[in-house]
Amino acid sequence: MGRKVRLCSASEVPPGEMLSVDTDAGDMLAVYNVDGDFFVTSNLCTHGVATLTEGWLEDHTIECPQHGGCFDVRTGEATHFPCEKPLQTYKVTREGDEIFADLD
Ligand code: FES
Repeated sequence: MGRKVRLCSASEVPPGEMLSVDTDAGDMLAVYNVDGDFFVTSNLCTHGVATLTEGWLEDHTIECPQHGGCFDVRTGEATHFPCEKPLQTYKVTREGDEIFADLD
């Protein structure tokens, strides 16, 4: 069974924007809105110590603020050097204005 957790309201994350969400259980997550589609990943870069929501979101690509590595927020795939290890992604569900992620 997954652990389904409410992260935020959809209206808190306009298209093209992202939001840092720390859960009560200690998960550090990033919620992205790409043209109305929501995605959730770990907010921690897999390359070093950096918070991805302090970087830049362009279409489906999040660019890390630290060394400019990139990930595809849909799949977690590392798409630009120096990131090589994929980012953890989570299944998102939307119920009305509420955004949930399945965290296990
Ligand atoms: Fe993110 Fe290096 S810490 S690219």
